[in-house]
Amino acid sequence: MSISQTRYHPHGYKNWFVNLPNFTFATGFRNIKTRTVVHHNRMKITVVGAGAVGATCADNIARRQLAQEVVLLDIKEGLSEGKALDMFQTATLCGFDTKITGSTNDYAKTAGSDVVVITSGLPRKPGMTREDLIGTNAKIVKGVTDNILQHSPEAIIIIVSNPMDTMTYLSLTTSGLAKNKLIGMGGILDSARFKTYLSLALDCPPNDIHGAVIGGHGDTTMIPLTRLATRNGVPVSQFLDDETLQKVAADTMVGGATLTKLIGTSAWYAPGAAVAELVESIVRDQKHVFTCCVSLEGEYGQSDICLGVPVVIGKNGWEAIIDYKLNDEEQAAFARSADAVRNMNDVLKTLEL
Ligand code: NAI
Repeated sequence: MSISQTRYHPHGYKNWFVNLPNFTFATGFRNIKTRTVVHHNRMKITVVGAGAVGATCADNIARRQLAQEVVLLDIKEGLSEGKALDMFQTATLCGFDTKITGSTNDYAKTAGSDVVVITSGLPRKPGMTREDLIGTNAKIVKGVTDNILQHSPEAIIIIVSNPMDTMTYLSLTTSGLAKNKLIGMGGILDSARFKTYLSLALDCPPNDIHGAVIGGHGDTTMIPLTRLATRNGVPVSQFLDDETLQKVAADTMVGGATLTKLIGTSAWYAPGAAVAELVESIVRDQKHVFTCCVSLEGEYGQSDICLGVPVVIGKNGWEAIIDYKLNDEEQAAFARSADAVRNMNDVLKTLEL
């Protein structure tokens, strides 16, 4: 595994001074499109499931130049090969040179992957909860995890398929993978939605907002931490009244359902970008703190469960849990969230996997 610690622009620009010759060239010959400085690392990343989320995720990973090769795998004949080729044909248009290949259920092609993202499974339809998907998706996620580890035993695995907290727990308890190498993605997305709704309420740029959503990745289990959210360091409660903050929290919690109702299926742009953000922190060893679903062993008062908490993400997967002090109300909400996820985990015992 080779890791670059340099921060790259999403489109491949290393930094402004490296890009200066390109800029000079472009201004001198305005009709010639210059290519960016391209960096190869040796990473191989597999994305399982070439549907809406998986394809968007692969696209984001390629554009950020996070790998030498991205493999997209799906069970539908030709789907991943077609999407991979279509995506690779944007390389000269978008200024990346990550190779993107497709595979119809041939795991040999994923061999030696450093990071694997599992998005295979049913998405929700309007009116469904994420939990309604458990029966079908548990079988898929277990089978995929087993196949992946046969060919990439050292991989860091990111679980996206829903109900994500339970799918992460399932992979952890059945695969024997070291706990730090298994990460459920949900909290990054929920936090992004939270920050977006706060920025809309404040009429300010989303990137001025800092805030996190912890707990389960479900409409009733997630906990937007409004008390700790800030606008560039100033608590948002100094600008927004309680009623508005409660509405922001409520909108965040049903953020996914709102989109499912509008689109007719589950969302993919923000989920795909959220996965890429997580993958970037791993392959560039950035040590970013994100809310991720990880195995708890006493942290936040919980054990034998995978749940969303702030973690440091680097080349070893999740490297530390930030176990900060919640107030009584937040701690009680976290315990309720854990109870609900634990009930869902119990359903796994009734399934033949
Ligand atoms: P989709 O239906 O567009 O794509 C799913 C793909 O998985 C399909 O192409 C299907 O052929 C493939 N697939 C099914 N079984 C497979 C198997 N055994 N091996 C390989 N591929 C298989 O669904 P979409 O919208 O991409 O969502 C995927 C999953 O991600 C859903 O479970 C959805 O609920 C979840 N999701 C999770 C989010 C999160 O924040 N954790 C956010 C958005 C979606």
